[in-house]
Amino acid sequence: MTEAIVKNLKKSFGSTQAVRGVSFTVKSQKFVTLLGLSGCGKTTVLRCIAGIEEPDEGEISIGGEVVFSSANKVFVPPERRGIGMVFQSYAIWPHLTVFENIAYPLKIRKMPREDISKKVKEVLELVHLSGLEDRLAPNLSGGQQQRVALARSLVYNPKLLLFDEPLSNLDAPLREEMRGELKLLQKSIGITAIYVTHDRTEALSLSDELVIMGNGRVLATGTPYELLDNPPNSYTAVLLAGMSVIYGRVAEATNGSVVFDAPFGRVYCKSGDAKEGENMKLCLRVDQLNLLKAPNNKANVFAATIIAVTHSGYLVEYKMMLSGQAIKVVREREKALYASVGDKVYLEIPEKACALVRD
Ligand SMILES: Nc1ncnc2c1ncn2[C@@H]1O[C@H](COP(=O)(O)OP(=O)(O)O)[C@@H](O)[C@H]1O
Ligand SMILES: [Mg+2]
Repeated sequence: MTEAIVKNLKKSFGSTQAVRGVSFTVKSQKFVTLLGLSGCGKTTVLRCIAGIEEPDEGEISIGGEVVFSSANKVFVPPERRGIGMVFQSYAIWPHLTVFENIAYPLKIRKMPREDISKKVKEVLELVHLSGLEDRLAPNLSGGQQQRVALARSLVYNPKLLLFDEPLSNLDAPLREEMRGELKLLQKSIGITAIYVTHDRTEALSLSDELVIMGNGRVLATGTPYELLDNPPNSYTAVLLAGMSVIYGRVAEATNGSVVFDAPFGRVYCKSGDAKEGENMKLCLRVDQLNLLKAPNNKANVFAATIIAVTHSGYLVEYKMMLSGQAIKVVREREKALYASVGDKVYLEIPEKACALVRD
């Protein structure tokens, strides 16, 4: 059982504050993803956990052991943290065979030869590479090379697996396949995992919990559905689901029912803690909005003009303008309206499409 706890982690490079007080907990056997835009400090957090980078401040514990503490001057070196790590670049040795690459961590740990053979065989099976033991690493496909890297990180039974954008170098179909495999593998061996990515699809499909990062800080934590259904801020709404954000003012708030003054009209929605007169932001879920050809007599229906239509296989994305405000709607192809650029349509904003946030 391995829980990982990061407390108030800080790390600067010169005048760049890469990590500005990051805290989160990864429960045992859970898959947690740090999701954020490029440059927000994800890799630095991961490297601090691995011990490749020494933080300026904070505390990190893995499986109940404090591996870093600025207050108590603790720094456990990387090789004694029981961590496996997989990077975007496969970082496998080109002059070694698959077997030798995977056996390497066991060799330096001085494991007897027969045990090494047995263990390497075991992990090769786990990552579906059995039979390729003698192949030189460069003679493998990208996906196979990443499997070798994964096998090498698993071979010495780490307590915690760290992934830094491990699928970014793979072609899309392979990326999807490997994503599924990774998740199955993590669950089947029951290992605690921390994953770093800027890709929302990866984060949403892999994770038990998400840590949303922005500018060196944690901006939200929760399960994918919690954060999709109730984004605590507009950054999370945009990053996780491409929601449209509308600035406006709370005109009325009674018993959770809110009247929100948006630039294009009054939106009736729900919010537990909105206060009358407050400036807030309305985040709109792209998948919950309806497009109509003609107005109906329901509330929350507004005239709009289509400014872009993007087809992406099963989905159609409409971008429209309402009183100078751009809003995005995504429909399944079968449920699409088939409007084109310049068409006047009516946007229906159901309550369930709305999340009111303060920032
Ligand atoms: N070794 C380093 N030296 C100087 N600046 C760094 C170093 N590593 C990271 N940074 C800076 O710290 C910030 C966070 O980087 P990083 O953790 O790599 O972000 P992410 O992984 O989210 O893209 C960036 O501004 C980056 O340029
Ligand atoms: Mg990075």
